[in-house]
Amino acid sequence: MKKSIFSILIALLLINSSCISQKKSAGENISVDYQIQSSYLLIPVEEKAPEVKIKVSAPNSTTSVPYDVHLALNQIDYWVPVDVKKWKGQKVTITYLDVKASTLGVNEAKQSDRFDFKYDETYRPQFHFSPEHGWMNDPNGMVYLDGEYHLFYQYNPYGCMWGNMHWGHAVSTDLTSWTYLPTVLAPDSLGAIFSGSAVIDVNNTAGFGKNAMVAIYTSAGKVQAQSIAYSTDKGRTFTKYTKNPVLPNPGITDFRDPKVSWNEAANQWVMALATKQTVTFFGSPNLKDWTKLSEFGEGIGSHAAVWECPDLFPMTYDGKTKWVLIVSLNPGGPNGGSATQYFIGNFDGKTFKPDALPYPLWLDYGRDNYAGVTFNNIPKADGRRIFMGWMSNWDYANQVPTLNFRSANTSPRELAIVHNGQHLIVSSNPVKEMNSLKDRISEMPDLQVDKEATITELLKDNDGSYEIEMSIQPVNAEEFGFSLNNAKNEVLKFNFDNSTGFFSIDRKKSGMTDFNDRFALGMNAPLGKKGVYKIRLLVDKASAELFINDGEITMTTLFFPSEWMNQLKFYCKTGKLKVENIKINNIK
Ligand code: FRU
Repeated sequence: MKKSIFSILIALLLINSSCISQKKSAGENISVDYQIQSSYLLIPVEEKAPEVKIKVSAPNSTTSVPYDVHLALNQIDYWVPVDVKKWKGQKVTITYLDVKASTLGVNEAKQSDRFDFKYDETYRPQFHFSPEHGWMNDPNGMVYLDGEYHLFYQYNPYGCMWGNMHWGHAVSTDLTSWTYLPTVLAPDSLGAIFSGSAVIDVNNTAGFGKNAMVAIYTSAGKVQAQSIAYSTDKGRTFTKYTKNPVLPNPGITDFRDPKVSWNEAANQWVMALATKQTVTFFGSPNLKDWTKLSEFGEGIGSHAAVWECPDLFPMTYDGKTKWVLIVSLNPGGPNGGSATQYFIGNFDGKTFKPDALPYPLWLDYGRDNYAGVTFNNIPKADGRRIFMGWMSNWDYANQVPTLNFRSANTSPRELAIVHNGQHLIVSSNPVKEMNSLKDRISEMPDLQVDKEATITELLKDNDGSYEIEMSIQPVNAEEFGFSLNNAKNEVLKFNFDNSTGFFSIDRKKSGMTDFNDRFALGMNAPLGKKGVYKIRLLVDKASAELFINDGEITMTTLFFPSEWMNQLKFYCKTGKLKVENIKINNIK
């Protein structure tokens, strides 16, 4: 994300911690009253502490569902804000359920006029979307409307670990810089707000208004069911439909992540829903009444685990329409943990028929691209299929060593169906808007690599956000590659092995890895022998997105170096390499 929009505010100004009374009521519940003078009540968090339920009661309002907070017991890792500005001058009561009165977090909670921080944490991405604070997972409800790309996302405002699922919200006019907007959907009596999609109801089929933005999401309570909410102010606020859920649970435990779009052929809305290890399609004339159309998935693709976050959309290949069905699954990815598979075929408005291809096919062979889906309502004149994924993996997402926030999205990518010489695949490439972020492009002389070569300085003032473009041509070389290195001997290694036909990324020695023992696992991608490999590598502090041969193979990986990688090394065990068209672009 561009820095410019965050030049605002610095410093954590804690104004006062006045609480007017602390009392113990029934059981072990502690209630603390605050006479509100400031904008926020800050609650101290310690990630290792067990979760505690917190209720906020204010005039005419009580949290309908208590929040889960890792309330500080022994130390304060960071604070989470409860926004209380609208109750200035009035009394707000925080009730901690089943907690001792002497708990550190109860006593240190305080009022503050500002909740902001430098926004310059070491691993804060510069050009990828990350939540301002708190936890984020899947992108949700991505939809374009009147010049704005809307990104909603799975969001926990009360901690940097998964929980309290809300829909956070941000908008962008160019897909590269994002403006944070208030959270739109909070947990209610039907449950937490899990993943889903948003549509623009151009013909007012639901009766919420012409061009209403309608969110279709999973209410995750005792069971999972699909609910809707609508906005008539361009996504700024949503009203939940009073007759939710619109698609009740039929007795399937994993029944979630509705992706809805208008289907021209069937002249109705079609929903792709993850149903255990299949995708079930439902149809509706009005977004409220849903009928089952068909079910896809048995006996095809990877069934290593539960299927999540499907997306079905048309694309054009060779002048003809083909349909792509994306399905995430966790665990069971080709390199462990979370990953996204896809199918290519035809959809007649009712049934998806896959082409005969060597499934499973994976959208990204890195370990850090999950639960991605595509934007709805991109104008026909644009015609692109734009994808964003969550740049993490359930194996370790809750432990990555970032401060104040956890997780970022992949760069927005344009998907296409292409032929890889053997069969059709879905390629991904950064959207063209990303080119506008290039700054100080430096072209380097071509290199002839005989065993080893090093570019000792990538950039003069390397702040960890840059792009490398080059083409690598092996000459009688079987095993060869390149790496990003720093002066601390940390290395992120990219290896081609023509004898096995695999390309791999090794982040074992790339910096901090010990926060989770599955983080250091290697990752491989099948990459046939090619004459030349065209490389594009986008690095943004703690992430690297690799696109080989125009996105035929894509690998996304996190890494946490203790100093920015400012060297590029090449090696070949036998033979030689020609490295040409080398460009190092700083990213502003
Ligand atoms: C995928 C997922 C979804 C679910 C959401 C909950 O990462 O597990 O299936 O809706 O996350 O946050």
